[in-house]
Amino acid sequence: MPMMLDSDLKSMPKIELHAHLSGSISRRCLHEIWRGKKAAGKTDLEDPLVVMPLEEPVVDINSFFPLFSSYIYRLVDDVESLHYSTSSVIEDFANDGVVYLELRTTPRSFPKGGLDRKGYVDAVLTAIDEAQQKYPSIQVRLILSIDRRNTLDEANEVVALATHFSSRGVVAVDLCGDPAKGDVSLFTPAFEAAKAQGLKITIHFAEAACSASETELQTILGWKPDRLGHVIHVPEHIRKQIAAVRPGIGLELCLSCNVQLKMITGDFDAHHFGEWWRVDGPVVVPCTDDVGVFDSPVSNEWKLIQRYFHLERDDVLSLARKGVDVIFGGDAQKTRLREIMW
Ligand code: IMP
Ligand code: ZN
Repeated sequence: MPMMLDSDLKSMPKIELHAHLSGSISRRCLHEIWRGKKAAGKTDLEDPLVVMPLEEPVVDINSFFPLFSSYIYRLVDDVESLHYSTSSVIEDFANDGVVYLELRTTPRSFPKGGLDRKGYVDAVLTAIDEAQQKYPSIQVRLILSIDRRNTLDEANEVVALATHFSSRGVVAVDLCGDPAKGDVSLFTPAFEAAKAQGLKITIHFAEAACSASETELQTILGWKPDRLGHVIHVPEHIRKQIAAVRPGIGLELCLSCNVQLKMITGDFDAHHFGEWWRVDGPVVVPCTDDVGVFDSPVSNEWKLIQRYFHLERDDVLSLARKGVDVIFGGDAQKTRLREIMW
Protein backbone atom coordinates (compact mmCIF):
# COMPACT_ATOMS: atom_id res chain seq x y z
CA MET A 1 0.00 0.00 0.00
CA PRO A 2 1.62 3.29 -1.07
CA MET A 3 2.34 6.27 1.16
CA MET A 4 0.75 9.57 0.21
CA LEU A 5 2.82 12.16 -1.63
CA ASP A 6 3.38 15.56 -0.02
CA SER A 7 1.16 17.10 -2.70
CA ASP A 8 -1.63 14.58 -1.90
CA LEU A 9 -1.40 15.43 1.79
CA LYS A 10 -1.71 19.10 0.97
CA SER A 11 -4.72 18.67 -1.30
CA MET A 12 -6.38 16.10 1.01
CA PRO A 13 -9.42 17.82 2.60
CA LYS A 14 -8.43 18.21 6.25
CA ILE A 15 -9.81 19.45 9.53
CA GLU A 16 -7.86 21.49 12.10
CA LEU A 17 -9.23 21.60 15.63
CA HIS A 18 -6.43 23.08 17.76
CA ALA A 19 -5.12 26.37 16.39
CA HIS A 20 -4.53 29.44 18.58
CA LEU A 21 -5.33 32.53 16.54
CA SER A 22 -2.40 34.70 17.68
CA GLY A 23 0.04 31.80 17.36
CA SER A 24 -1.21 30.94 13.88
CA ILE A 25 -0.30 34.29 12.32
CA SER A 26 2.53 33.73 9.86
CA ARG A 27 5.71 35.74 10.21
CA ARG A 28 5.03 37.15 6.74
CA CYS A 29 1.68 38.51 7.95
CA LEU A 30 3.21 39.86 11.18
CA HIS A 31 5.88 41.52 9.08
CA GLU A 32 3.28 43.17 6.83
CA ILE A 33 1.41 44.51 9.86
CA TRP A 34 4.68 45.74 11.35
CA ARG A 35 5.73 47.40 8.09
CA GLY A 36 2.46 49.33 7.85
CA LYS A 37 2.62 50.46 11.48
CA LYS A 38 6.28 51.36 11.24
CA ALA A 39 5.65 53.52 8.14
CA ALA A 40 2.80 55.26 9.98
CA GLY A 41 4.99 55.81 13.06
CA LYS A 42 2.63 53.61 15.10
CA THR A 43 5.12 51.08 16.49
CA ASP A 44 8.59 51.00 17.98
CA LEU A 45 8.70 47.19 17.96
CA GLU A 46 11.45 45.37 16.10
CA ASP A 47 10.67 43.65 12.79
CA PRO A 48 9.06 40.24 13.53
CA LEU A 49 11.42 38.66 11.02
CA VAL A 50 14.25 39.74 13.35
CA VAL A 51 12.47 38.78 16.58
CA MET A 52 11.42 35.38 15.21
CA PRO A 53 13.78 34.51 12.34
CA LEU A 54 12.52 31.52 10.37
CA GLU A 55 15.90 29.85 10.44
CA GLU A 56 15.95 30.04 14.25
CA PRO A 57 12.80 28.29 15.45
CA VAL A 58 11.48 29.00 18.95
CA VAL A 59 12.76 26.00 20.88
CA ASP A 60 12.43 27.07 24.47
CA ILE A 61 9.13 26.83 26.30
CA ASN A 62 10.33 29.59 28.65
CA SER A 63 10.55 32.07 25.78
CA PHE A 64 7.47 30.71 23.97
CA PHE A 65 4.69 31.99 26.24
CA PRO A 66 6.21 35.47 26.78
CA LEU A 67 6.37 35.86 22.98
CA PHE A 68 2.65 36.59 22.97
CA SER A 69 2.52 39.26 25.67
CA SER A 70 5.89 40.80 24.89
CA TYR A 71 5.53 40.92 21.11
CA ILE A 72 2.50 39.59 19.19
CA TYR A 73 -0.10 41.26 21.46
CA ARG A 74 1.79 44.55 21.24
CA LEU A 75 1.84 44.38 17.44
CA VAL A 76 -1.73 43.15 16.91
CA ASP A 77 -3.32 45.78 19.12
CA ASP A 78 -6.10 47.33 17.05
CA VAL A 79 -9.16 46.17 15.11
CA GLU A 80 -7.46 46.68 11.77
CA SER A 81 -4.52 44.37 12.50
CA LEU A 82 -6.78 41.86 14.27
CA HIS A 83 -9.04 41.73 11.21
CA TYR A 84 -6.13 41.49 8.79
CA SER A 85 -4.33 38.76 10.75
CA THR A 86 -7.49 36.68 11.30
CA SER A 87 -8.24 36.77 7.59
CA SER A 88 -4.65 35.87 6.74
CA VAL A 89 -4.69 32.89 9.15
CA ILE A 90 -7.87 31.54 7.54
CA GLU A 91 -6.42 32.04 4.05
CA ASP A 92 -3.29 30.09 5.06
CA PHE A 93 -5.33 27.18 6.43
CA ALA A 94 -7.55 27.17 3.32
CA ASN A 95 -4.48 27.12 1.06
CA ASP A 96 -3.21 24.11 3.01
CA GLY A 97 -6.36 22.13 2.21
CA VAL A 98 -8.16 22.71 5.50
CA VAL A 99 -11.92 22.57 4.87
CA TYR A 100 -13.04 22.92 8.48
CA LEU A 101 -11.19 24.95 11.09
CA GLU A 102 -11.86 25.48 14.76
CA LEU A 103 -9.84 28.53 15.67
CA ARG A 104 -9.42 29.45 19.31
CA THR A 105 -8.58 32.75 20.91
CA THR A 106 -8.36 34.37 24.34
CA PRO A 107 -10.60 37.46 24.44
CA ARG A 108 -8.51 40.53 25.27
CA SER A 109 -9.11 44.24 25.25
CA PHE A 110 -7.30 46.87 23.20
CA PRO A 111 -7.06 49.79 25.62
CA LYS A 112 -5.59 52.12 22.98
CA GLY A 113 -8.29 51.26 20.45
CA GLY A 114 -11.13 51.48 22.95
CA LEU A 115 -12.09 47.83 22.37
CA ASP A 116 -13.25 45.61 25.23
CA ARG A 117 -13.24 41.79 25.29
CA LYS A 118 -16.71 41.60 23.78
CA GLY A 119 -15.61 43.92 20.97
CA TYR A 120 -12.57 41.70 20.40
CA VAL A 121 -14.71 38.57 19.92
CA ASP A 122 -17.12 40.51 17.71
CA ALA A 123 -14.21 41.72 15.55
CA VAL A 124 -12.77 38.19 15.21
CA LEU A 125 -16.19 36.82 14.20
CA THR A 126 -16.65 39.59 11.64
CA ALA A 127 -13.26 38.77 10.13
CA ILE A 128 -14.17 35.06 10.09
CA ASP A 129 -17.47 35.79 8.28
CA GLU A 130 -15.70 37.83 5.62
CA ALA A 131 -12.87 35.31 5.20
CA GLN A 132 -15.31 32.45 4.76
CA GLN A 133 -16.92 34.34 1.89
CA LYS A 134 -13.56 35.09 0.35
CA TYR A 135 -12.24 31.51 0.76
CA PRO A 136 -15.39 29.41 0.33
CA SER A 137 -13.59 26.07 0.60
CA ILE A 138 -13.18 26.54 4.37
CA GLN A 139 -15.74 26.77 7.18
CA VAL A 140 -14.61 28.20 10.50
CA ARG A 141 -15.92 27.97 14.05
CA LEU A 142 -14.54 29.77 17.09
CA ILE A 143 -13.52 28.50 20.53
CA LEU A 144 -12.93 31.05 23.32
CA SER A 145 -9.98 30.38 25.60
CA ILE A 146 -9.69 30.90 29.32
CA ASP A 147 -6.07 31.57 30.26
CA ARG A 148 -4.67 29.71 33.27
CA ARG A 149 -3.71 33.08 34.77
CA ASN A 150 -7.31 34.33 34.66
CA THR A 151 -9.41 34.93 37.75
CA LEU A 152 -12.72 33.10 38.11
CA ASP A 153 -14.53 36.33 37.19
CA GLU A 154 -12.52 36.58 33.97
CA ALA A 155 -13.20 32.92 33.20
CA ASN A 156 -16.92 33.46 33.80
CA GLU A 157 -16.80 36.41 31.41
CA VAL A 158 -15.29 34.17 28.70
CA VAL A 159 -18.13 31.68 29.21
CA ALA A 160 -20.68 34.50 29.04
CA LEU A 161 -19.10 35.76 25.80
CA ALA A 162 -19.08 32.26 24.32
CA THR A 163 -22.76 31.89 25.19
CA HIS A 164 -23.61 35.33 23.82
CA PHE A 165 -21.85 34.68 20.53
CA SER A 166 -22.88 31.04 20.10
CA SER A 167 -25.38 32.05 17.39
CA ARG A 168 -22.46 33.50 15.43
CA GLY A 169 -20.28 30.40 15.52
CA VAL A 170 -18.67 30.19 18.96
CA VAL A 171 -18.88 26.51 19.82
CA ALA A 172 -16.72 25.86 22.87
CA VAL A 173 -14.50 27.05 25.70
CA ASP A 174 -10.85 26.08 26.10
CA LEU A 175 -8.35 26.26 28.96
CA CYS A 176 -4.88 27.26 27.77
CA GLY A 177 -1.84 29.30 28.73
CA ASP A 178 1.44 28.69 30.48
CA PRO A 179 1.14 25.28 32.19
CA ALA A 180 3.43 26.52 34.97
CA LYS A 181 0.81 29.07 36.02
CA GLY A 182 -2.45 28.90 37.92
CA ASP A 183 -4.60 26.42 39.81
CA VAL A 184 -7.18 24.87 37.50
CA SER A 185 -9.60 23.98 40.30
CA LEU A 186 -10.49 27.67 40.41
CA PHE A 187 -12.25 27.28 37.06
CA THR A 188 -14.58 24.39 37.93
CA PRO A 189 -17.68 26.65 38.18
CA ALA A 190 -16.84 28.29 34.84
CA PHE A 191 -16.53 24.99 32.97
CA GLU A 192 -19.66 23.66 34.66
CA ALA A 193 -21.49 26.80 33.53
CA ALA A 194 -20.16 26.36 29.98
CA LYS A 195 -21.50 22.80 29.86
CA ALA A 196 -24.83 23.92 31.29
CA GLN A 197 -25.07 26.48 28.48
CA GLY A 198 -24.60 23.72 25.90
CA LEU A 199 -21.06 24.74 24.99
CA LYS A 200 -18.40 22.09 24.38
CA ILE A 201 -15.18 22.13 26.38
CA THR A 202 -11.63 21.31 25.36
CA ILE A 203 -8.72 21.51 27.77
CA HIS A 204 -4.91 21.67 27.50
CA PHE A 205 -4.13 18.53 29.47
CA ALA A 206 -0.87 17.29 31.03
CA GLU A 207 1.13 19.52 28.74
CA ALA A 208 4.07 19.73 31.14
CA ALA A 209 5.10 17.74 34.20
CA CYS A 210 4.13 20.72 36.38
CA SER A 211 0.55 20.61 35.05
CA ALA A 212 0.14 16.87 35.38
CA SER A 213 -0.42 16.27 39.07
CA GLU A 214 -3.01 13.64 39.94
CA THR A 215 -5.15 16.39 41.48
CA GLU A 216 -5.06 18.61 38.40
CA LEU A 217 -5.77 15.78 35.98
CA GLN A 218 -8.66 14.45 38.10
CA THR A 219 -10.11 17.95 38.43
CA ILE A 220 -10.09 18.37 34.66
CA LEU A 221 -11.51 14.91 33.94
CA GLY A 222 -14.26 15.74 36.45
CA TRP A 223 -15.39 18.51 34.06
CA LYS A 224 -16.09 15.78 31.48
CA PRO A 225 -14.21 17.50 28.66
CA ASP A 226 -15.26 16.77 25.09
CA ARG A 227 -11.68 16.97 23.86
CA LEU A 228 -8.21 17.20 25.37
CA GLY A 229 -5.14 18.89 23.93
CA HIS A 230 -1.54 17.59 24.05
CA VAL A 231 -2.07 14.75 26.62
CA ILE A 232 1.65 14.31 27.25
CA HIS A 233 2.48 13.49 30.88
CA VAL A 234 -0.26 10.96 31.40
CA PRO A 235 0.23 7.94 33.66
CA GLU A 236 -1.25 4.60 32.58
CA HIS A 237 -4.25 4.69 34.93
CA ILE A 238 -5.24 8.13 33.63
CA ARG A 239 -4.93 6.91 30.05
CA LYS A 240 -7.50 4.23 30.81
CA GLN A 241 -9.67 6.79 32.57
CA ILE A 242 -9.55 9.12 29.56
CA ALA A 243 -11.03 6.44 27.36
CA ALA A 244 -13.66 5.62 30.00
CA VAL A 245 -14.69 9.14 31.01
CA ARG A 246 -16.06 9.91 27.60
CA PRO A 247 -15.90 7.21 24.95
CA GLY A 248 -15.02 8.89 21.66
CA ILE A 249 -13.22 11.77 23.34
CA GLY A 250 -11.11 13.82 20.91
CA LEU A 251 -7.36 14.06 21.45
CA GLU A 252 -5.76 17.06 19.77
CA LEU A 253 -2.11 16.05 19.31
CA CYS A 254 0.43 18.66 18.23
CA LEU A 255 3.63 16.92 17.15
CA SER A 256 5.80 19.79 15.91
CA CYS A 257 4.96 21.97 18.89
CA ASN A 258 5.82 19.20 21.35
CA VAL A 259 9.06 18.23 19.61
CA GLN A 260 10.29 21.76 18.86
CA LEU A 261 9.61 23.00 22.41
CA LYS A 262 11.08 19.75 23.83
CA MET A 263 7.87 19.07 25.69
CA ILE A 264 8.51 15.39 25.00
CA THR A 265 11.78 13.53 25.29
CA GLY A 266 13.19 12.51 21.94
CA ASP A 267 12.28 13.08 18.32
CA PHE A 268 9.03 12.65 16.38
CA ASP A 269 9.22 8.86 16.54
CA ALA A 270 8.99 9.10 20.35
CA HIS A 271 5.79 11.17 20.25
CA HIS A 272 2.78 9.71 22.06
CA PHE A 273 0.83 9.86 18.79
CA GLY A 274 2.34 6.40 18.28
CA GLU A 275 0.66 5.13 21.45
CA TRP A 276 -2.75 6.65 20.85
CA TRP A 277 -3.60 6.45 17.21
CA ARG A 278 -4.63 2.81 17.18
CA VAL A 279 -6.34 2.83 20.60
CA ASP A 280 -10.07 2.12 20.41
CA GLY A 281 -12.28 4.86 21.82
CA PRO A 282 -10.37 8.14 21.78
CA VAL A 283 -10.21 9.91 18.42
CA VAL A 284 -6.77 11.30 17.59
CA VAL A 285 -6.65 14.51 15.55
CA PRO A 286 -3.27 15.89 14.40
CA CYS A 287 -3.20 19.66 14.95
CA THR A 288 -0.80 22.58 14.55
CA ASP A 289 -1.27 24.54 17.81
CA ASP A 290 0.68 27.60 16.59
CA VAL A 291 1.62 27.25 12.94
CA GLY A 292 2.95 30.82 12.84
CA VAL A 293 5.55 29.93 15.44
CA PHE A 294 6.37 26.32 14.58
CA ASP A 295 6.05 26.83 10.82
CA SER A 296 4.52 23.41 10.27
CA PRO A 297 1.16 23.51 8.47
CA VAL A 298 -1.24 20.68 9.18
CA SER A 299 -0.35 19.00 5.86
CA ASN A 300 3.21 18.79 7.21
CA GLU A 301 1.95 17.30 10.49
CA TRP A 302 0.38 14.51 8.41
CA LYS A 303 3.63 14.12 6.52
CA LEU A 304 5.54 13.71 9.79
CA ILE A 305 2.98 11.20 11.05
CA GLN A 306 3.20 9.20 7.85
CA ARG A 307 6.99 9.23 7.91
CA TYR A 308 7.61 8.46 11.58
CA PHE A 309 4.71 6.09 12.28
CA HIS A 310 4.60 4.40 8.88
CA LEU A 311 0.94 5.02 8.17
CA GLU A 312 -0.24 3.84 4.80
CA ARG A 313 -2.62 5.72 2.54
CA ASP A 314 -5.73 4.02 3.96
CA ASP A 315 -4.58 4.66 7.55
CA VAL A 316 -4.16 8.38 6.82
CA LEU A 317 -7.54 8.68 5.12
CA SER A 318 -9.42 6.77 7.79
CA LEU A 319 -7.75 8.69 10.63
CA ALA A 320 -8.49 12.02 8.95
CA ARG A 321 -12.14 10.99 8.52
CA LYS A 322 -12.47 9.77 12.12
CA GLY A 323 -11.65 13.29 13.27
CA VAL A 324 -15.01 14.48 11.93
CA ASP A 325 -16.72 12.64 14.82
CA VAL A 326 -15.19 15.04 17.36
CA ILE A 327 -15.70 18.43 15.72
CA PHE A 328 -17.86 20.89 17.66
CA GLY A 329 -19.60 22.29 14.57
CA GLY A 330 -22.72 20.11 14.73
CA ASP A 331 -24.41 17.56 12.52
CA ALA A 332 -24.82 19.69 9.40
CA GLN A 333 -21.08 20.37 9.41
CA LYS A 334 -20.34 16.67 9.92
CA THR A 335 -22.55 15.83 6.93
CA ARG A 336 -20.76 18.43 4.82
CA LEU A 337 -17.36 17.02 5.81
CA ARG A 338 -18.44 13.45 5.14
CA GLU A 339 -19.38 14.51 1.63
CA ILE A 340 -16.01 16.22 1.10
CA MET A 341 -13.70 13.76 2.85
CA TRP A 342 -15.13 10.39 1.86
P1 IMP B 1 -4.65 33.80 21.38
O1 IMP B 1 -5.48 33.13 22.43
O2 IMP B 1 -5.34 33.87 20.05
O3 IMP B 1 -4.17 35.15 21.81
O4 IMP B 1 -3.39 32.88 21.12
C1 IMP B 1 -2.24 32.93 21.92
C2 IMP B 1 -2.44 32.29 23.29
O5 IMP B 1 -2.66 30.91 23.12
C3 IMP B 1 -1.20 32.38 24.18
O6 IMP B 1 -1.21 33.50 24.98
C4 IMP B 1 -1.30 31.13 25.03
O7 IMP B 1 -2.04 31.41 26.18
C5 IMP B 1 -2.13 30.19 24.21
N1 IMP B 1 -1.29 29.10 23.68
C6 IMP B 1 -0.67 29.02 22.49
N2 IMP B 1 0.01 27.85 22.40
C7 IMP B 1 -0.21 27.20 23.55
C8 IMP B 1 0.22 25.94 24.05
O8 IMP B 1 0.97 25.17 23.44
N3 IMP B 1 -0.20 25.64 25.31
C9 IMP B 1 -1.00 26.44 26.04
N4 IMP B 1 -1.42 27.61 25.60
C10 IMP B 1 -1.04 27.99 24.36
ZN1 ZN C 1 -2.63 24.82 22.41
